[in-house]
Amino acid sequence: MHILHVVGARPNFVKAAPVLRALRLRGGRQTLVHTGQHYDRNMSDVFFTQLEIPEPDYNLGVGSGSHASQTAEVMKRFEPVVLESKPDLVLVYGDVNSTVAAALVCSKLLIPVGHVEAGLRSFDRTMPEEINRVVTDRISGWLFTPSEDEDRNLQNEGVAAARIHRIGNVMIDSLVQLLPAAKNLPKNGLPEKFILVTLHRPSNVDSNENLRSILTALQQAGDYARIVFPVHPRTRQRISEFGLSTDKLHLLDPVPYLEFLNLQTRAAAVITDSGGIQEETTFLGVPCLTVRNNTERPITVDVGTNCLVGDDRNLLTSELQKILNGQGKQGSVPPLWDGHASDRLAEIVLTSSLS
Ligand code: UD1
Repeated sequence: MHILHVVGARPNFVKAAPVLRALRLRGGRQTLVHTGQHYDRNMSDVFFTQLEIPEPDYNLGVGSGSHASQTAEVMKRFEPVVLESKPDLVLVYGDVNSTVAAALVCSKLLIPVGHVEAGLRSFDRTMPEEINRVVTDRISGWLFTPSEDEDRNLQNEGVAAARIHRIGNVMIDSLVQLLPAAKNLPKNGLPEKFILVTLHRPSNVDSNENLRSILTALQQAGDYARIVFPVHPRTRQRISEFGLSTDKLHLLDPVPYLEFLNLQTRAAAVITDSGGIQEETTFLGVPCLTVRNNTERPITVDVGTNCLVGDDRNLLTSELQKILNGQGKQGSVPPLWDGHASDRLAEIVLTSSLS
């Protein structure tokens, strides 16, 4: 069976790495396509090295652009590749523009598509990722879900049970594998107690007012705790465009996977608007404050350590105080977040009628 994987942006690399490995261990032909949605060394190459992802067979080099042009560019450049390589199954990951673009191309060519991390819903159609999730699920034949919530979402949309395969969380597979190495990294001069921040959602960083109010709350927190903030290129651009002050924050360039994992394990709290980080902090038992009004990963709130603080900056500050006073949320690890989701996926795919 020939499986082609499509990756494009930072979170895809973390999700695809264990799946590539699980399938490689069981034999079979694999092709890897990198769309080039993320292209900076520290947003892409460094993840390939640390996660031991093989060199892509194809790099489409699409780069940045508006949603329409980025999605269209992936489609145009991916179509000849998939026609040439004639895979039996194409696996797409998560909810980025590269995911939906590749799924659309394959569905028109009648090539089976598997969506890894299917069924997530924030029910917020203002999020570009929500559109990508809904469309990708609609046109994928195989839906690999991380937990019961996602199965339910898909069933509510009328998806046949036979298409839904609950395998667990592939992102946690990478975490489980690389946690020991991450913990062994040097401490690089940070104090015992610090708060780790990431922000990159357009709703938070593209609005001057929103970004300003978040940074003001963080600057205030900077008076009593060290704030470590690896800055996404989009966010860095906006901070400078809007002329916002960050003098009380410890800004870093985006950090590689292992270094970021190390920071998460040591952080007293994580403040984020990322989806994957809500899951990683839940697994690690680190309190997480999510600067969003909703989440497509409700299990991290119901079972894990995540708390949604939305756009209420007072709530952000008071929840942070609670955590620093030792009253942070306790959680547990959801079922099937055990480091073996990719093994389950590989067994399902390789014993299917396609192979
Ligand atoms: C994308 C995903 C988002 C995911 C995030 C992880 C979509 C719709 N969004 O958002 O779901 O959480 O990746 O990071 O697919 N840039 C660089 N270097 C790079 C990549 C991007 O400088 O290597 C800059 C460019 O100015 C670009 C901007 O970042 O315009 C945004 O990049 P883009 O890939 O469009 O979306 P992300 O915000 O990274």
